[in-house]
Amino acid sequence: MMSVSRRQFILGSTALGAGIGLAGLLPAPARDRPSLPIPKEIRADSGGNIQLTSQKGTRRFVASGPTNTYGVNGDFLGPTIRVRRGESVTINATNALDEDTTMHWHGLIDLGKYDGSPHNVIKPGGTFTAPLNIDQPAATLWYHPHFYPTTAELVIKGLAGLFIIDDEESSGLGLPSQWGVDDIPIILQDRRFSTDGNFFHRMNMVAITTGYIGDYMLVNGANYPVATTARGWLRLRLLNGSNARSYRIKASDNRPLYVIASDGGLLAEPVELRELQMHSGERFEVMVDARDGKAFDLVTLPVKQTGMNLPPFHQPLPLATISPDGAATNGRLPDSLASMPPLDPNLPKQSQNLVMGMRLDDQGMGLLRKAGLMEMNKTGSMDQAVADRVVKLIQDGPALSLAAQLSANTVNGESFQLSETPFEVPIKRNLRWLISEGSDSMLHPVHIHGCQFRILAIDGAAPPAHIAGWKDIAPISNGGTCEIQVRFEHPASKSTPFMAHCHILEHEDSGMMTQFSVA
Ligand code: C2O
Ligand code: CU
Ligand code: CU
Repeated sequence: MMSVSRRQFILGSTALGAGIGLAGLLPAPARDRPSLPIPKEIRADSGGNIQLTSQKGTRRFVASGPTNTYGVNGDFLGPTIRVRRGESVTINATNALDEDTTMHWHGLIDLGKYDGSPHNVIKPGGTFTAPLNIDQPAATLWYHPHFYPTTAELVIKGLAGLFIIDDEESSGLGLPSQWGVDDIPIILQDRRFSTDGNFFHRMNMVAITTGYIGDYMLVNGANYPVATTARGWLRLRLLNGSNARSYRIKASDNRPLYVIASDGGLLAEPVELRELQMHSGERFEVMVDARDGKAFDLVTLPVKQTGMNLPPFHQPLPLATISPDGAATNGRLPDSLASMPPLDPNLPKQSQNLVMGMRLDDQGMGLLRKAGLMEMNKTGSMDQAVADRVVKLIQDGPALSLAAQLSANTVNGESFQLSETPFEVPIKRNLRWLISEGSDSMLHPVHIHGCQFRILAIDGAAPPAHIAGWKDIAPISNGGTCEIQVRFEHPASKSTPFMAHCHILEHEDSGMMTQFSVA
């Protein structure tokens, strides 16, 4: 099967060969490159309503043809929802597609019945009405469909957007806050195209093992765009909106990244990093000092995640150019950010264990091993013949039967069942949970609905400072564990329970999800 992706690989390598990367070289010329699309903000109207319509569209990403897409109030991706703490808004999520969907507010703390989970199905032509009381700290959340078992495909086609909460505390800090000027949304997604220009997606053995492996990057829906920004401190709101891929974000000129917020809001103080790991579904707000007006690239470095080091991700890949040649702005980086409540010193002993499991791990990993992927990874360098064999497995491997797909992966030994709510959680109590994995050694960024939690320990050690604040995703890998302090403020009934699942969407759609009520 002749595939476009091969051509993109060649293009991608040429661009890399031209010298972008970590040697402090200049970004590729902005000429002929797209500018970074800025998803426009949407606020509640005078009646307190926000209308989101999931609809079909087309967009030209690649030369081989227009891509059939989905978008919210547009062709691809959706507007940025903007609400304030204390506000009550009603979101009307309308389905103008030909298939069932839902709309979930990822990271929002609200009632189970308005969560937009797989239980809040929106039929074609239907509307899901969610009256939401915004009562949590300022944060960069996001929204995406959560229909079981086609979440992965709905997101690939383009259904996702940012959901930003503002509050008094964050507004008083003097942080950059001019949307698209010095407050810049960055939505990272990888894609793969079929020969006809449509997005490739297939639930085959590789997909349910590694998750989606793209070979083409989109940043806010554009490939290697240029963001023309203010000349000043910039606040980058990063969302890893990829189905499965992790990134290691770095500035091409090695300038520091000051992490100011994680999934659920501001940290106590900025954390200076040179390199930031981001797993599927995670958000970080990062400040960069661009007062020098010098252009640089955001780059992703190769990651260890299985299958994710194929070209063009086998070497540093530029994602977007930040070109700070606009007007000077006066947003600043404060020394301290938000009040972070201390951890509960009297946390009860562990009341819940969530064990991610993969029933077909041996088969899936067997295919990759046979193709030579594990051997290649050990050498640390790229072997084109191996990459070609793995790409063939990704693109040509037959789709699993629905039954095989739905039973491939598990939480606590069971594949997800919409009609079963395996456990109940006490409301308004600080709890200690453990997240772990079975015998596989895959990465699982585990997400829990209806809460923001705190990571107590990763693999037994205290978490690094930038993930010690509010989180709704806990990454586990290599047989590791993650211990969290978690609390649920709102009820969720057995008929509209909260989900806990791996945010590798192909894992989620193949059984690595469970649900629980809160009372
Ligand atoms: Cu971002 Cu349960 O999802
Ligand atoms: Cu969620
Ligand atoms: Cu997983």
